[in-house]
Amino acid sequence: MELAPRKCRFPPPLLLLLLLLGLSTGAIVNWPTEEGKEVWDYVTVRKDAHMFWWLYYATNPCKNFSELPLVMWLQGGPGGSSTGFGNFEEIGPLDSDLKPRRTTWLQSASLLFVDNPVGTGFSYVDKDDAYAKDLATVASDMMVLLKTFFDCHKEFQTIPFYIFSESYGGKMAAGIALELHKAIQQGSIKCNFSGVALGDSWISPVDSVLSWGPYLYSVSLLDDQGLAEVSQVAEEVLDAVNKGLYKEATQLWGQAEVIIEQNTDGVNFYNILTKNAPMSPMKSSLEFTQSHLGHLYHRHVRHLNQDSLSQLMNGPIRKKLGIIPEDCSWGGQSKNVFLNMEGDFMKPVISIVDELLEAGVNVTVYNGQLDLIVDTVGQEAWVRKLKWTELPKFNQLKWKPLYSEAKSSETSAFVKRHENLAFYWILRAGHMVPSDQGDIALKMMRLVTQQE
Ligand SMILES: *[C@@H]1O[C@H](CO)[C@@H](O)[C@H](O)[C@H]1NC(C)=O
Ligand SMILES: *[C@@H]1O[C@H](CO)[C@@H](O)[C@H](O)[C@H]1NC(C)=O
Ligand SMILES: *[C@@H]1O[C@H](CO)[C@@H](O)[C@H](O)[C@H]1NC(C)=O
Repeated sequence: MELAPRKCRFPPPLLLLLLLLGLSTGAIVNWPTEEGKEVWDYVTVRKDAHMFWWLYYATNPCKNFSELPLVMWLQGGPGGSSTGFGNFEEIGPLDSDLKPRRTTWLQSASLLFVDNPVGTGFSYVDKDDAYAKDLATVASDMMVLLKTFFDCHKEFQTIPFYIFSESYGGKMAAGIALELHKAIQQGSIKCNFSGVALGDSWISPVDSVLSWGPYLYSVSLLDDQGLAEVSQVAEEVLDAVNKGLYKEATQLWGQAEVIIEQNTDGVNFYNILTKNAPMSPMKSSLEFTQSHLGHLYHRHVRHLNQDSLSQLMNGPIRKKLGIIPEDCSWGGQSKNVFLNMEGDFMKPVISIVDELLEAGVNVTVYNGQLDLIVDTVGQEAWVRKLKWTELPKFNQLKWKPLYSEAKSSETSAFVKRHENLAFYWILRAGHMVPSDQGDIALKMMRLVTQQE
């Protein structure tokens, strides 16, 4: 098995021959047979660090893939898998029962799922010191992956390329977008980068934490006593962040969540209209589950690695892919991915969004109305902190309603756009916007990628 850093695995004539002979190369398989082309592989992005990606060519009855954009999807956590959760639970062609998804984004874009940071999903490290510990490493690893990808798949170099993301994936997407913009300017990566979309994204964690209390109070999920308790711990988080004590801030963030859980009878952080679903016990020591990081991991990564999805990925999907090393299990290193980013969680990246806006990169922010962990009020708060010179004009605009179908009178979202910043308020969606509201999420992607 070849897992070393690689150029394209086989020269095209050999590949064609192998396909004609009906031999699986492990890299290109059509499955299910009538669906479009898929390709996947590993890229060694650093010593001992191997990143897995999976590309689906757009399948549209009227358009060739070359007439549609390429969208890269980045999951959160950190440690949540794009190839697993994003693909089978949100936007890919099949759901986790392997049934076709009506609202798949594949009808309007080619989709590139990447398991990042290394150690996430089918990505893996050989040594414990190879995990990423900060956003800079996450972004530079992704530059190696994207350079390899676009060098090997020249057909995508001119196609408009967009990054869409969710949660912590949004924070990574911002950092990655800025590095990609620079790499294109320097000529080191050839691609037609056209914009980044930050979904329910962890851009300014403290703005989320500070808005939890007032948000929950306003929708009858906290009483006066509860509001006071939540506000107090939120102030402590703010204090720690202001002092640059990010690990302490992470610990306090965990405490704030426990206080909310106690005062709301277990509200679900990903959709305030539901309750926390009990999870199966983690396969790890009691000590870990009781530690503050264990608690946070359990809440923020385990829900992306449910047992049923894990069985799918480690069963039929792994078999289909055929290149996953025997000792690598999907999700097996996700806990370590999360723990290694401990010092990065609470760092804001508002200044990176400012740099993107000043550089002329198209930035979209979208947020689910019912999300708590990254509530919309908190997103609006960091947007107001942007130093972008066009912000006053953006603020003066009125939003416009959006409907998922022309015939429908039900408001699905509101949108505001000025120059290269757009904000979508997605109604009736929690944290996972495409899972909760597939129709409007697809429409939004089409709007962002200038197809409507
Ligand atoms: C689709 O586009 C690719 C790349 O431009 C081209 O090679 C291929 O022939 C096209 N396929 C069809 C069916 O037009
Ligand atoms: C990027 O995509 C747009 C839209 O398809 C196209 O007009 C433009 O020429 C492309 N740019 C590059 C550098 O390929
Ligand atoms: C940014 O979006 C606007 C439309 O909203 C579009 O006209 C422009 O071409 C986009 N810029 C890039 C670099 O894709």
